[in-house]
Amino acid sequence: MKIVIALIVFGYIGRLVGQDESDHDEDDLDNPYYFNFGSKTTICPQNASCLDGNTHFLCAKDPMKVSPNCKRFVLVPITRKSRSNMVHVHNGLRNKVAYDKKLANMNLVYWNMHLQDMAEQYLHLCRPYRDTCLIIGLNGYRVGQNTVFVPRQHFALLTEWEGRTVRQWFLELGRIKITSQDLVTEQLKGKMGNLTQLIWPSLEFIGCSAAIMFDGLFIVCYYYPAVNESLKAQFTYLKADESCVCPKNRYTCSLLFTSLCGIDIEVGGALITEFNPWNMFLLLFILFILYNIRFSRV
Ligand SMILES: *[C@@H]1O[C@H](CO)[C@@H](O)[C@H](O)[C@H]1NC(C)=O
Ligand SMILES: *[C@@H]1O[C@H](CO)[C@@H](O)[C@H](O)[C@H]1NC(C)=O
Ligand SMILES: *[C@@H]1O[C@H](CO)[C@@H](O)[C@H](O)[C@H]1NC(C)=O
Repeated sequence: MKIVIALIVFGYIGRLVGQDESDHDEDDLDNPYYFNFGSKTTICPQNASCLDGNTHFLCAKDPMKVSPNCKRFVLVPITRKSRSNMVHVHNGLRNKVAYDKKLANMNLVYWNMHLQDMAEQYLHLCRPYRDTCLIIGLNGYRVGQNTVFVPRQHFALLTEWEGRTVRQWFLELGRIKITSQDLVTEQLKGKMGNLTQLIWPSLEFIGCSAAIMFDGLFIVCYYYPAVNESLKAQFTYLKADESCVCPKNRYTCSLLFTSLCGIDIEVGGALITEFNPWNMFLLLFILFILYNIRFSRV
């Protein structure tokens, strides 16, 4: 618990000191992949309805009002560092899958502020389980969602909560050695909802947030585009002599994640472009930790 409080306090200090001022506008600048889901001013769909037919929470009068059913609600501030960690861990694991399974057309993912807003608004509903709404933006774009609820006894692990969360989703099948054929068959059995979204080749954007509620920490990421078909239909393979092949809208391979498609750009601090030794060390260190520790081992 102390660590969580420290985390939050540091987040706020970071904001006060100004390293982490809110940067919604920055999303527009220099970002060829900026995407606003049909409107800059609202993410509430035109017909205000969810995929499940209910009224959309994004259209509430005050979507950042904490639900009266909630207990001990504290939103964890998403700092530049959290965004950067989240995006890196996603891209690191996607790169590993693309490299190991020799997959082509695997996108680099970017942070999207509107998906982060959606995650924050969902957290304010205090429903520590999966969303069934899954629509964003004026014209109603379908999104995917990954979640995890970490009970209080595991709070000591929250120093690298972004990485540990994504790692947990990555290990959904309970093992690391998986062939691409395994992935295809296990998806059909419905056992890897989070993992499928995480390694979805045409994925482009993510936005996450976390909050303490009840007796734990609830972490949510939204994804666009959502999983809409089988991995079998999405997987395309590299030829023996190829190391990266990209779709038309993402014609360049990343220099940092060499099996992924997209330009290495800095958006909201979410993608490090400099190859200095310290950044590489940090990245390797994070990945190393992730490979060795999980929430459940504690
Ligand atoms: C309106 O909402 C329904 C779900 O109730 C959905 O099927 C439909 O596509 C939506 N229409 C538009 C224009 O967004
Ligand atoms: C994602 O993982 C969490 C925690 O392990 C689980 O509760 C949730 O049901 C999973 N979601 C899907 C769509 O499989
Ligand atoms: C799923 O979405 C992709 C675009 O992201 C599209 O090309 C494909 O046809 C869709 N598949 C289905 C079954 O709707």
